[in-house]
Amino acid sequence: MKFELRGITKRFPGVVANDGVNLHVSTGEVLALIGENGAGKSTLMNVLYGLYRADEGELLIDGKPSHFSSPADAIAAGIGMVHQHFMLVPVMTVAENVVLGVEPTGRFGSLDIDEARRMVREVSDKYSLELDPDAVIEDLSVGVRQRVEIVKVLMRDAKIVVFDEPTAVLTPSEILEFFEIVRSLVAAGRGVIFITHKLKEALSVADRINVLRRGKVVGEALPKNTSESQIAEMMVGRAVQLVVDKTEAVPRESMLDVRNVTVVEPDGRVVVDDVTFEVRVGEIVGVAGVQGNGQTELVEAIAGLRRAASGSIVLGGRDITTDSPRERHEAGMAHIPEDRQRQGLVTDLSIVENLVLTRYHDSEFSSGIRMKWDVAKTRAKELVAAYDIRTTDPAQPASTLSGGNQQKVIVARELSREIRLAVAAQPTRGIDVGSIEYVHAQIVKERDAGRAVLVVSTELDEVMSLADRVLVMYRGRIVADVDPKKVSHMDIGLYMAGSRPSGAVA
Ligand SMILES: Nc1ncnc2c1ncn2[C@@H]1O[C@H](COP(=O)(O)OP(=O)(O)OP(=O)(O)O)[C@@H](O)[C@H]1O
Ligand SMILES: [Mg+2]
Repeated sequence: MKFELRGITKRFPGVVANDGVNLHVSTGEVLALIGENGAGKSTLMNVLYGLYRADEGELLIDGKPSHFSSPADAIAAGIGMVHQHFMLVPVMTVAENVVLGVEPTGRFGSLDIDEARRMVREVSDKYSLELDPDAVIEDLSVGVRQRVEIVKVLMRDAKIVVFDEPTAVLTPSEILEFFEIVRSLVAAGRGVIFITHKLKEALSVADRINVLRRGKVVGEALPKNTSESQIAEMMVGRAVQLVVDKTEAVPRESMLDVRNVTVVEPDGRVVVDDVTFEVRVGEIVGVAGVQGNGQTELVEAIAGLRRAASGSIVLGGRDITTDSPRERHEAGMAHIPEDRQRQGLVTDLSIVENLVLTRYHDSEFSSGIRMKWDVAKTRAKELVAAYDIRTTDPAQPASTLSGGNQQKVIVARELSREIRLAVAAQPTRGIDVGSIEYVHAQIVKERDAGRAVLVVSTELDEVMSLADRVLVMYRGRIVADVDPKKVSHMDIGLYMAGSRPSGAVA
């Protein structure tokens, strides 16, 4: 089967998100869709999935004009979509979730959960998607939840499965599993559209790559005769520096002193286990590790979103262990949170408001009685330009921004005031290669201006190229403290898996 979008134009107030786009995908192939933040990728897929109605253009299925006016139409025609933010009910089981909407009903019209279980098993066996139908969603890792979404789509017999940035939230080993799933889908005669900002992934899994820029398809590439830097250039329209440009660090006095910090979950599990380290002025310390080894909780303890059960946290000589997030903020800590939707932004508020969100009390923006809106607006304009935040009007709600542009708002806000320490969790998640280059340059600039920087990232490449010193976390503990120039990715990988490279001393 072949699905073809022809001349698709989709406008939002003040912006043409898709501008006469032509794109086709067939069963049995993987099409990667890449492009800058705000290029129109998610919009285009939402048009294909019947969530948005195109202003112009048509859809052809096997050459025949078709029309979707809702996702139900798209599903019936064989389109399935796995959204970046999963739409699962956390307190329900896998089986209960996958049958929402297609509930098989028993004799008395009630949900026949045995039938649902059987269907989950059948689909998961067929595609080797290991899944327990009775597991409760909230107990599952992100990778497994994604599998649930995939099973849900396959149970509706999707011919084409659309994935919007599926790997942004996965661990490296989950990403490999995901690729296996994609291959098995294709082997079973399905087609896949795959959106990613990680060019390596597009090159390794796609049959074809389509590049979108400012709403238009600007090129198609075949992985076998193109390179990362060629695609990056096609995306951004200029050569992109794919490695971080920085000089040797010159660390000075200690700025962040984390001593014997332990974090315990309400159920008694120790998630951060007696962690001690420091971050000095003028250095970038990276924390590497497989997601789920305590990095998130460690950052939350440092930022004040969680209480440490024991231990102390000192910022520039002042004990902040029991300070509130706002007190830490005022003491000069910037925090780029991992979960931009829940912690970083208020999406109903305007972009301007979000850019000054944590700074309502700063004298720069407030006279003590009222906000200085003209100052905030001017500042917002500068940040929008510097960080290339794609918006036609910063007075619009942040929810109108594309995913990557929302992330840029947080980074811009957090790095644009006088700080002493920046704590950045997954700072470039969902950001395109051109903007990653800029964000990394800003982080290095902070370092060189005499700040201390702590970067936590599940992207090993990012940690290794950005950090001056790398700590590896495994099961709540720091198991290595190394110079990234002196160890290989392979060795770090071993530490991340809880073992030790041969010849290494503890
Ligand atoms: N609901 C909306 N209202 C107004 N503008 C919107 C809306 N949704 C998207 N846009 C705008 O349309 C453009 C394309 O956004 P889209 O989300 O498709 O980008 P994207 O390519 O998926 O980017 P990213 O890589 O950051 O996810 C952007 O300029 C965005 O601000
Ligand atoms: Mg998007």
